[in-house]
Amino acid sequence: MGVTIGIDLGTTNSCAAVVKDEKPRVISDTGGGFTIPSMVAVDDKGNRLVGQPAKRQSLINPVNTIYGAKRLIGRRFQSKVTGDVKKHLLYDMAQGDNDDVLIQMAGEIYGLDEVSALIIDKVRNTAQDILEEEVTSAVVTVPAYFNDRQRQAVKDAGKIAELEVLRIINEPTAAALAYGWGKHLNERVAVYDLGGGTFDLSLLEVRDNVYEVRATGGDTFLGGVDFDNRLIEHIIDSFKKQNGEDMSKDRIALQRIKDACERAKIDLSLKQETRINIPFIAMGDDGPMNLDITVTRDEFNSMVGDLIDKTLVTCEQVLGDAEWTVNDIEDVLLVGGQTRMPYVQEKVGEFFGKQPSKNVHPDEAVAIGAALMAYSLTSASDYRITLIDVLPMSIGVALAKDKFHKIFPRNTAIPNATSMVFTTSKDNQNQLKLKICQGESDKSSENELLGEFVFSGIPPAPKGQARLEVILKLSPEGMLTVEAQDPDSKQWIETTIAVTSGLTQKTHKTKLIDKKEPPKKKEQSQPKAETQTRPPVPPPAKSAPKPPPTKPEPPKKEKTPPPAAQAAPKRPDSWGPPPSPGLGIQTKKTASGKVVLKRDPITGNIIKNTGDGDQEKTSGDEPKREFKRYHAPPPPTPIGTKISTWIKGLFGKS
Ligand SMILES: Nc1ncnc2c1ncn2[C@@H]1O[C@H](COP(=O)(O)OP(=O)(O)OP(=O)(O)O)[C@@H](O)[C@H]1O
Ligand SMILES: [Mg+2]
Repeated sequence: MGVTIGIDLGTTNSCAAVVKDEKPRVISDTGGGFTIPSMVAVDDKGNRLVGQPAKRQSLINPVNTIYGAKRLIGRRFQSKVTGDVKKHLLYDMAQGDNDDVLIQMAGEIYGLDEVSALIIDKVRNTAQDILEEEVTSAVVTVPAYFNDRQRQAVKDAGKIAELEVLRIINEPTAAALAYGWGKHLNERVAVYDLGGGTFDLSLLEVRDNVYEVRATGGDTFLGGVDFDNRLIEHIIDSFKKQNGEDMSKDRIALQRIKDACERAKIDLSLKQETRINIPFIAMGDDGPMNLDITVTRDEFNSMVGDLIDKTLVTCEQVLGDAEWTVNDIEDVLLVGGQTRMPYVQEKVGEFFGKQPSKNVHPDEAVAIGAALMAYSLTSASDYRITLIDVLPMSIGVALAKDKFHKIFPRNTAIPNATSMVFTTSKDNQNQLKLKICQGESDKSSENELLGEFVFSGIPPAPKGQARLEVILKLSPEGMLTVEAQDPDSKQWIETTIAVTSGLTQKTHKTKLIDKKEPPKKKEQSQPKAETQTRPPVPPPAKSAPKPPPTKPEPPKKEKTPPPAAQAAPKRPDSWGPPPSPGLGIQTKKTASGKVVLKRDPITGNIIKNTGDGDQEKTSGDEPKREFKRYHAPPPPTPIGTKISTWIKGLFGKS
């Protein structure tokens, strides 16, 4: 039987993790990096490159290097967001059937699901090389704010990559799973996830292995790339002012500026000012021109302040949806590379009124959480996660006059189900059509069309007498299925779906996915995984969490000291090669007694604790509150919910 891994399919970087010997580990690539650039390219010799090799040649081949594909997956070509993305992308797009976005690369057309499949394939093959075992399935993460269409497209990508996607889970939820691993938490957390392309905020109640999302919100079009774009625009403007040269149409120059701006942005997380220096960026009347512009941290902060404010508006709205205030939140977790920016940390800290916790690794927590979910779903051990997530955006039906009726409002707990009974509006009508959309607008045309369902084979009857029961089910992944039956005979009615996205079936010159066999396990091989995966995270204690004390004592909260704003989290070097058993625990005697230094399993940071025990900050031994809800989601609404009055006359021709 093959291995199941967790995959964080990121806009900028992808990352994989696995639970081995009951411990989650991040899987490196063969070059030693722990994330794989989410890039696909075709070089001048026609070779398809994925990951680091694609990134390395992007400067000289911007037109045939695809990046940021996750921002386009499941989107419509004619949508506003696609139009906005186009302004900043250096590769070409095309319109597909169903208004899907397609990419042109080296004379061939690719679907976004195919591009994502190539990245998944790369991650799978890398994991196989490292683990020396076949990887057959995965739990894949998506932004919490992905709609049904985008989730479906990621599932399709898994299919194309010939990898079974056991489950899709939301990125912030996955980060919370990593944070909670082995800690027996009993607290409310906010996960603020600002990655390369997307922003999510999720509010969760965590009680041991029960993770209940109370509300979620986000923007699938807001991330590090937008921060880069602000700097790029500034540099292009400044250069034009200085030299009168407009570089906004020169793709090679733009790729160099883009690359330099991202590096400068990262630099500004550590320094107060940085110099962007690109020799021979353009050819002027007097010969080659150099770009040399200094940007200060304050200048950059003022360029992007509104982007951060936008995330805080979402935070406000999600808190409102959960009916929480910032005082209800015990820990704020920062996930995603862009949260390394000090100004983001400062503003998020100000908003929540507390220093965000650094106890998750911003690049790796999501993959670790996915691996833990995979482990919970597949392992024979008794480790089980109970996950109750929510629907990020309302789902409903389109009514006459462009009205939209919400069936599942946003933040409905998933899984869930409901049913509606419809009647016919004409004699002998044998077909009903139902348009299902997702979004928050009162106008159905402004929401995302998920599908147009046609139910045929309705028995002939006078109008108003034939009845049709439509059953809508939300899977634990937040995806919708629609079925219909005759409510009296319980016979299923034939259903066809139109206007949804589907698997892209393009033919390429070379086989898209050439599934590699895993390398043969070497006899008596050294524990290779030990040297090429992150050190293991300690397993959860086998014992059940202690019951709450009858009189809850005020929790002794030992905060990890807030890191210096400009210090990037100490990651790779603090992980180093994995220590032998007893991971990273060192003890030192001090005048006051024993000081225990413990390495945080996820971040690699050292957590200091004074006293006799080595109790972790978030051991959860003293639960701080009783959760109001940590039960299973409500059972499906009893079949037969009648909402036929408002829908009369809705359906078209029979
Ligand atoms: N030290 C830093 N300071 C500021 N930004 C940083 C820093 N390190 C990385 N980033 C930015 O973080 C982003 C990548 O973050 P991450 O790898 O979490 O994104 P992702 O998972 O690929 O994207 P998403 O989750 O949105 O799909 C990039 O925009 C990168 O420039
Ligand atoms: Mg991410």
